[in-house]
Amino acid sequence: MRSWCVTAALVCLLAGAVLAWPAPPQPPCPCAQPEWCNPVKTPPRKEVFVFAVRNDTWKHYDWDKVTTVVMFGFYSEELMCYAHSKGARVVLKGDVKASDVAHLPDPLFRDDWVITQVALMLKQHMDGINIDIEQAIPAGDPARDGLTALVNETTFVFHAINSASQVTFDVAWSPDCIDGRCYDVVNIAKSCDFLFVMSYDERSQITGPCVASANSALETTLGGYQEYLKLGIPADQLVMGVPWYGYDYPCLNLSKDDVCSIKKVPFRGAPCSDAAGRQVDYKDIMRLMRNSSRRWNDTFKSPYFNFQEGGQTHQMWYDDPQSLQYKYGWAVKQGLRGVGMWHGDTLDYTTTDPKVKKQTQEMWDSLPKYHKKS
Ligand SMILES: *[C@@H]1O[C@H](CO)[C@@H](O)[C@H](O)[C@H]1NC(C)=O
Ligand SMILES: *[C@@H]1O[C@H](CO)[C@@H](O)[C@H](O)[C@H]1NC(C)=O
Ligand SMILES: *[C@@H]1O[C@H](CO)[C@@H](O)[C@H](O)[C@H]1NC(C)=O
Ligand SMILES: *[C@@H]1O[C@H](CO)[C@@H](O)[C@H](O)[C@H]1NC(C)=O
Ligand SMILES: *[C@@H]1O[C@H](CO)[C@@H](O)[C@H](O)[C@H]1NC(C)=O
Repeated sequence: MRSWCVTAALVCLLAGAVLAWPAPPQPPCPCAQPEWCNPVKTPPRKEVFVFAVRNDTWKHYDWDKVTTVVMFGFYSEELMCYAHSKGARVVLKGDVKASDVAHLPDPLFRDDWVITQVALMLKQHMDGINIDIEQAIPAGDPARDGLTALVNETTFVFHAINSASQVTFDVAWSPDCIDGRCYDVVNIAKSCDFLFVMSYDERSQITGPCVASANSALETTLGGYQEYLKLGIPADQLVMGVPWYGYDYPCLNLSKDDVCSIKKVPFRGAPCSDAAGRQVDYKDIMRLMRNSSRRWNDTFKSPYFNFQEGGQTHQMWYDDPQSLQYKYGWAVKQGLRGVGMWHGDTLDYTTTDPKVKKQTQEMWDSLPKYHKKS
């Protein structure tokens, strides 16, 4: 309860400051048009939610589709101005360090965290925050409720300051304590605008045979959403996050029917994991595929291919417009809040090769054609 007193005081104080000084303690607008510094006021709409990790390729996104961009690990004024000129939100990345997870039950820690984020949002003319905490938290740990409270308080304060601001939270492909992340997803969903479901890294904890397989198998992916829906989380609060990247696995052995055995690399209690491979951007996958032939696994509705590198056999599992169509189509049919990808900068935006240009274009074109209301 103390925390709400303090949090409420912060809101009063900030709201008071904004009221008292219409030109608030914000830096001057860096945009060519001053109105581009205004946060986006569009009410809830279907989302095309993009994680940006670079400051130099976002101009090539399909801005007729993009509704929200997370600036993941950087801040760019140019991107903020540009996104706002296109009616898209730009949001912060919210993180809690592994060493701070134990502090989550502490209201003072949370107040401090929320205040820091709000100040950043205002200073940088932004529209909200995407909370990405991927630390393991056991079901009985007090940090579990602490995390839910953090999300609740963040939303409370962000919405108090800007009712059109957006607070979102990233969750694993299934709610079942994936990678030891036993978060209270039901109450977290109630405490924010929507969840971004990371329908990838589905091989982070392999319990069956230690073999290479799809990063985002259709059945596994849809099974995850069924579980979220069964918990009572509305479809409208789930954004489907898909991979615009894949995994390259060195094979210990490749059988005639394309089963690639991989090294046993344990992860959070599982004997084997996708850490035996490496994540590869879509553009590099396309380059590596030039000497190989794309194959299709119809069980997983996923493409893959085998290739040689330095005398070593590899198997690459990835997603492309064909595999993504299955997922996007389902997201639309089920009335999910939208789709998004990790991440928007895996494509080749600088090539002059028409074949590669087309590959980039097709990835954006495969996204659902939501009517981008503004
Ligand atoms: C982009 O980021 C790099 C590395 O952090 C930095 O050197 C460069 O100045 C930035 N460019 C822009 C346009 O912000
Ligand atoms: C969030 O906090 C408010 C204020 O304390 C409370 O009324 C609300 O029930 C909380 N929501 C959830 C989902 O915990
Ligand atoms: C390795 O692959 C070969 C070729 O398909 C197969 O004959 C052999 O049984 C495999 N060995 C193991 C240990 O899986
Ligand atoms: C494809 O094969 C050619 C000729 O063997 C080789 O020079 C090139 O490096 C290969 N490319 C890739 C991406 O493996
Ligand atoms: C897909 O891959 C899995 C794992 O290697 C294999 O068991 C399955 O038979 C494959 N399905 C098809 C249709 O190739």
